[in-house]
Amino acid sequence: MDVRVVDRTNRRQTQTPAHQAPPCTLVIFGAGGDLTKRLLMPAIYNLSKAKLLSENFAIIAVDRTPKPVEAFRDYLAEGIRSFVSDTAAGPATEPFDAQAWEFVASRISHFAGDLTQSDTYARLHDTLEKTVAQHQTGGNAVFYLAVAAQLFGTIVEQLGTAGLAREQNGSFRRVIIEKPFGTDLDSARALNARILKVLSESQIYRMDHFLGKETVQNIMVLRFANGIFEPIWNRDHIDHVQITVAETVGVELRARFYEQTGALRDMVPNHVFQLLSMTAMEPPNSFEADAVRTEKHKVLEAVHPLDDAEVRRNTVRGQYAAGTLGGAMDKAYREEPRVAPDSSTETYVAMQLGIDNWRWAGVPFYLRTGKRLARRTTEIAIQFKQAPFALFRDTPVDILTPNILVLHLQPDEGASLQFGAKIPGPEIALGGVRMDFHYKDYFKTEPSTGYETLVYDCMIGDQMLFNRADGVEAGWEVVQPILDLWRNDKTVPLEMYPAGGSGPEAADNLLWRSGRHWRPIG
Ligand code: BG6
Repeated sequence: MDVRVVDRTNRRQTQTPAHQAPPCTLVIFGAGGDLTKRLLMPAIYNLSKAKLLSENFAIIAVDRTPKPVEAFRDYLAEGIRSFVSDTAAGPATEPFDAQAWEFVASRISHFAGDLTQSDTYARLHDTLEKTVAQHQTGGNAVFYLAVAAQLFGTIVEQLGTAGLAREQNGSFRRVIIEKPFGTDLDSARALNARILKVLSESQIYRMDHFLGKETVQNIMVLRFANGIFEPIWNRDHIDHVQITVAETVGVELRARFYEQTGALRDMVPNHVFQLLSMTAMEPPNSFEADAVRTEKHKVLEAVHPLDDAEVRRNTVRGQYAAGTLGGAMDKAYREEPRVAPDSSTETYVAMQLGIDNWRWAGVPFYLRTGKRLARRTTEIAIQFKQAPFALFRDTPVDILTPNILVLHLQPDEGASLQFGAKIPGPEIALGGVRMDFHYKDYFKTEPSTGYETLVYDCMIGDQMLFNRADGVEAGWEVVQPILDLWRNDKTVPLEMYPAGGSGPEAADNLLWRSGRHWRPIG
């Protein structure tokens, strides 16, 4: 990782400039799909705007059906324009930058083929050679798999057979694979084994888009670039940690995928565990990819494995029922299009985990994620242990305000620290107050999809923000006992919660039984 330091205490500044990526051809499998249009191409456009793409850059857009390249470029431009005008992607203050788009558009070619057929890859080989010659991309290629997960193994094998994965004369061949990486421990292991027969680990970029979020990367900076946090970042000082990934969206039009997947598989072994491991990891020896990934992996390895009784006691699965969200009536999950009327798929999961190591022994980590909750919020709350009460025993104070450090990851990025202060007046009375830091007050942020950093990092060969094989498997290893029990034991309840609420009551009980409570979502 390239680390620069700029003092921003007095000034509001734009991003520090990075170096231009090396020459490269980006081959997108599934170029006609939603991911390419909504996230990947806007990210490429942003990289072009930031002048981070090489002059010798080209895109081969691979899709099932042939399409005139002009029509295809127009289709992608539509996606960029709606991204630029979408306030959810950031402040919509920037106009569409036609020049930045033209830089990209003029380098796109369209290639049609059936991804299950080997002749597609033989033809692709020829097309890639021509592209290398035309755009002087020097033989470097990134293959981006924006396709259904069932095709991951096949595509990688075909790349191998066609000689497309071979790195020669100093050039690189890299493959980006986005989640879902497997559907359980066995399938994740099998997929790793399959692709590792063709590619070396250094060629595989397993993407978790949470790691592209600036504020997620900032967890490490906050912890390791400031002297005040690490000395108290342990079981001596921390009472518990809460990680919340709450969404207001429901299953939308993804029921076919979601019915088979559920909140646990969809969010926990990947996104939520990225947050967990960044919060709990030991300081790495350096920001080298393997140093960081090794420390993150060690956290997941140290998570206390749950037996059946612990799964029953320490996990909650829920599903949204009808309710009111944003003032409007919202239907139940079971009434959504393509969802079975008696579906038992969970749209919410909460759990208590422990990390069996020296730093964290005895500190509960409470995790929760769900759809159709009252508010969209992703945060990590570190609650510190109470100060001794003795001094206040003869005062009207009956409870001390807990110290909570909250890292707000989205949508309002920043951090806040809660502590107790004296309420002015003759008597000793305490009130909880907060110091707040908002990213937007210090940094000029550009609208981004979060994919910019990840695509750029792949092009420059930095794997720090990508998952290693062992990291993916360790995540599945932690959730596998939960998947097993939920599947095999029909008595495990599916707790209903109203859309627009804070999740099921059973999740509150998870904390109440030890005298704790969740931070409010609404
Ligand atoms: C995806 C999940 O990986 O992450 C979705 O499949 C979820 O169900 C999404 O909504 C959340 O990502 P973000 O970036 O919107 O917080």
